[in-house]
Amino acid sequence: MAKDSVKKLRVGFVGAGGIAGTHANNYQNMPDVEIVAASDVSEKGLKAFQEKYKVPQVFTDWKQMLKECELDAVSVCTPNFLHCEPTIGALNAGCHVLCEKPLAMSAAEGRRMLAAAKKNKKQLVIAFQFRFDGKTQALRRAYDEGFFGKVLYVRVKAIRRRGIPNWGVFGRKELQGGGPLIDIGVHALEMAHYAVGAPQPQSALGFTWTYLGNKPSNTACSWPNWDWKTYTVEDLAVGTIRTKNGPVFHLESAFVAHTDQEGMDFTIFGEKGGAQWSTTSLYHDHAGMMVNSTPAFVAKRDGFVHKMRHFVDVCQGKCKTEAPAEHGLMVQQMLDGIYASAKQGKEVKIK
Ligand SMILES: NC(=O)c1ccc[n+]([C@@H]2O[C@H](COP(=O)([O-])OP(=O)(O)OC[C@H]3O[C@@H](n4cnc5c(N)ncnc54)[C@H](O)[C@@H]3O)[C@@H](O)[C@H]2O)c1
Repeated sequence: MAKDSVKKLRVGFVGAGGIAGTHANNYQNMPDVEIVAASDVSEKGLKAFQEKYKVPQVFTDWKQMLKECELDAVSVCTPNFLHCEPTIGALNAGCHVLCEKPLAMSAAEGRRMLAAAKKNKKQLVIAFQFRFDGKTQALRRAYDEGFFGKVLYVRVKAIRRRGIPNWGVFGRKELQGGGPLIDIGVHALEMAHYAVGAPQPQSALGFTWTYLGNKPSNTACSWPNWDWKTYTVEDLAVGTIRTKNGPVFHLESAFVAHTDQEGMDFTIFGEKGGAQWSTTSLYHDHAGMMVNSTPAFVAKRDGFVHKMRHFVDVCQGKCKTEAPAEHGLMVQQMLDGIYASAKQGKEVKIK
């Protein structure tokens, strides 16, 4: 090999649907990555993916792919029920893994995944992109430099007024583990949790409701005609989490909500200062005044592009992961806690 040539990272896919395409677009822009193989149970989807991304080898069985192809890394892009086994399979086959969010269906699955990464001395990175966003990075830096003082409370939201996915299996609890909480709430929660130093969760109080997704609807919306007959997840979930020596988090997440307060955001309440993620507004006292300030410059960083490059850098040993599986596990424990509490009707301990 010529001295200046770089060994390309040989990448494969488990799942070749929507998000796999976004991974593939990013890998294609990296000269040090080679897409070698993909697997999906849908032959039609697989063929389209192969043609679009010029994938040399395709398989309808991911285990076969791992057996036949010498891969360095795998993107796990299947529905949530199929994060755990392919991740463990790929790690045992000697690959690094970028697993789509959430980590898994449950923290119990997540622990098995972390153990497999440790046993095989391979990287398991969770595909959380919002922590890499420029605004999140700015607030994390403010946290690290003590701007907030002790952080007391973090209010988190991921709300859609009428946004039930009308593709995939997002309405099926047995395949996804839940609804908006595990699908979009997880994004807002993970970035908020990261921004304030990733404290260990201790207990959860949660509530969930299903009132619209499981019924036919003729209300106009951007994603109509979802599969209401197989819809078994919540429409709305809220939860409060206590953490060890850290703030209380309160999360609201919805696929369906009669409100105009849509979107994803979080607000930090600290003893010395506060902040709002969406506007990067900072609130504090200064020179005898209550001051609202916004940075004159916040790096516009595309979190998704950054997370993909970061994963490749981590695989190549260039840096330590900033989206470790341990964070994915803590976020999963919070989701599990909210669902368990909603089911049991009382606050539950997180072990
Ligand atoms: N990071 C993000 O912003 C983001 C966005 C969307 C989805 N996701 C995550 O990505 C995952 C997939 O979501 P999606 O939107 O791509 O869904 P999708 O339905 O478009 O794609 C999932 C693919 O997995 C395939 N599949 C199902 N069973 C399989 C099996 N046994 N072996 C191989 N392939 C199999 C399906 O045929 C489908 O092509 C989910 O976990 C979701 O939470 C993340």
